[in-house]
Amino acid sequence: MKLEGVAAFLTGGASGLGAASARVLAEAGAVVALLDRDMALAEPLAKELGGVAVKCDVADHESLKAAVDQATAAIGPPRIAVNFAGIDVSQKIASRSKGPHPVESMQREIDINVIGTLDGCALFSEQMMNLEPFEDGERGVLINIASGAAFNGPPGQSVYAASKRAVAGATLPLARDLAPYGIRVMTIAPGFFKTPLAESVDDKHIDKLISMVPFPKRWGDPRELGELVKFICQNRMLNGETIQIDGAMR
Ligand SMILES: NC(=O)c1ccc[n+]([C@@H]2O[C@H](COP(=O)([O-])OP(=O)(O)OC[C@H]3O[C@@H](n4cnc5c(N)ncnc54)[C@H](O)[C@@H]3O)[C@@H](O)[C@H]2O)c1
Repeated sequence: MKLEGVAAFLTGGASGLGAASARVLAEAGAVVALLDRDMALAEPLAKELGGVAVKCDVADHESLKAAVDQATAAIGPPRIAVNFAGIDVSQKIASRSKGPHPVESMQREIDINVIGTLDGCALFSEQMMNLEPFEDGERGVLINIASGAAFNGPPGQSVYAASKRAVAGATLPLARDLAPYGIRVMTIAPGFFKTPLAESVDDKHIDKLISMVPFPKRWGDPRELGELVKFICQNRMLNGETIQIDGAMR
């Protein structure tokens, strides 16, 4: 898909990987809508990129639906939608010192990472399927964000890993559901990227993890992930697959 002038909606677009991807897409000519709960971050970025910021909680259907309607009224229906919004409540499933993982934070993590992503796919694709088709009948691209944690078994991240494996697992059935409408679905599973979310992990733990990255032995730059988002949008043969971008950290 050519990016010039198309509407790109990014949940979690105010910070980290979402913000970097919004910047890359805007530089390529897309008009971005940042759907995020944090307006203090989203509004100045949207202004800088010539897009719009819309407040929402992706785990709340009415809130997400209202945000999609508001963004569509502002910049038109999405041709590109990326579900970045996610949280990571790192905690062991049970330990002597902390007891069992609280079910409330399990539920919240699943609601944001899994339901927020799938509901985003449902609402964004509903808009996309009524658009005029481009070359090959392509109408839109949905990109979801899993994590290397879905495949690598990191201790203390059972709920996060389960939520991200669910996102990866949905990729092919989503692509098959939406293929008749010319909508592609891809998932990106990032390794370690330097963002506020990753920086919240204990320094010692991160140093150990980074030392396990074969090459390049460093944090990923969020812009590198944004470039992958752009490439997926541009390459129509990419569909129904999860791409790990992690310096071979498996
Ligand atoms: N940074 C990494 O190394 C890494 C690795 C693997 C996967 N990921 C995934 O990438 C995505 C982006 O992470 P990041 O590192 O950029 O984090 P981040 O914390 O910098 O950004 C997350 C954004 O999502 C928004 N958000 C969170 N919950 C929301 C909700 N309920 N409704 C609306 N907005 C909400 C936040 O306000 C924030 O702007 C997440 O899904 C995360 O799990 C990140």
